[in-house]
Amino acid sequence: MGAQSKGVVMRKWKSALVALTAVGALALSACSGSSRGDTASDPSSGAAGFPAGSTIGVALPQKTSENWVLAEGLFNDGLTAAGFKPLVQFANGGVTEQQNQIQAMIEQGAKVIVVGAIDGSQLGSQLKAAQDAGIKVIAYDRLLENTANVDLYVAFDNFKVGVLQGQALLDGLAKQKGSGPYNIELIAGSSDDANSTPFFQGAMSVLQPKIDDGTLKIPSGQTKFEQATTQGWKAENAQKRMDTILSGFYAGSTKLDGILSPNDTLARAALTSVHQAGKPNPVITGQDSEVESVKLIMAGTQYSTIYKDTRELVAKTIDQVKLAQQGQPFEVNDTKTYNNGVKVVPAFLLDPKIVTKDNAAQVYANDPNLAPLTK
Ligand code: GAL
Repeated sequence: MGAQSKGVVMRKWKSALVALTAVGALALSACSGSSRGDTASDPSSGAAGFPAGSTIGVALPQKTSENWVLAEGLFNDGLTAAGFKPLVQFANGGVTEQQNQIQAMIEQGAKVIVVGAIDGSQLGSQLKAAQDAGIKVIAYDRLLENTANVDLYVAFDNFKVGVLQGQALLDGLAKQKGSGPYNIELIAGSSDDANSTPFFQGAMSVLQPKIDDGTLKIPSGQTKFEQATTQGWKAENAQKRMDTILSGFYAGSTKLDGILSPNDTLARAALTSVHQAGKPNPVITGQDSEVESVKLIMAGTQYSTIYKDTRELVAKTIDQVKLAQQGQPFEVNDTKTYNNGVKVVPAFLLDPKIVTKDNAAQVYANDPNLAPLTK
């Protein structure tokens, strides 16, 4: 994410925190803002969007967490059931591969391209080509940045994810580590993932006041996003960084009370590092409700995760594709928050849920993969 857009995005997060408490669910026309002026998004023209059996492209990033693996099957099954021809691809090779895949989806006549970007700031020319071809572009889970050529953003509210993580860390410290002050360390996601900034900003909107008043101390001094990022969301990068921090700042009996982790994969990596250093188990956050982490939560080792039901996110995205096929406007419930550095992208936001041992059974009750783990 470019510095300019990041700055814009961060300013938005703060006002979003206020707006989040007031915003109601709105269904507003988004496509009428489409820069192409084609009839597909103008129901008054009476024209249907595109033929029912059309190809729909879904460009997914890499399998850095279970939610992406789940999304592949859900998109293939859901789009087929809706009568479309799905073209779902991961870009395991990286950004260049994803650029080429999107270009190929355009050439194969996709009418909508759903993008889960590896790096949302590096797809500008492919997204322009898509929109010049009259294709609708939906940003899935991760915002597409520095481009006007995106019609909609569908995601769980990722700023709220951070807020929930920050609050869970404070709650867990109070419950498990007595009274403060507490020593904590901060882990952020991959710098090329547009979500990493809102995750971190949301958490810091809760934690910063406690750092300022001395309740929280960060012995490593690594309090900035740029110092805390984990390239490629790779577990080994988080573990290596935690090893270095522990050997550098936690000699002897200095305790590490808590860790802010942006997702489950990095939480488990950090726990490995802390346990190998012979330190007591810290209060640690996560995200994605991965099976291994839900087991750790039930065992009392990981304190919290976030439930972003991938079935819900994929289903809502496919609903939007159906609206486009019928020539109807997209359904949006946020038209203020997600400034991608060029424009505010109309969004449909779903509600993330915090999960701890106390509420896991209730939150996962309807999830066939996770409910059995809470018995
Ligand atoms: C983010 C996503 C998170 C997590 C992370 C690592 O974009 O929103 O839920 O999956 O990627 O894969």
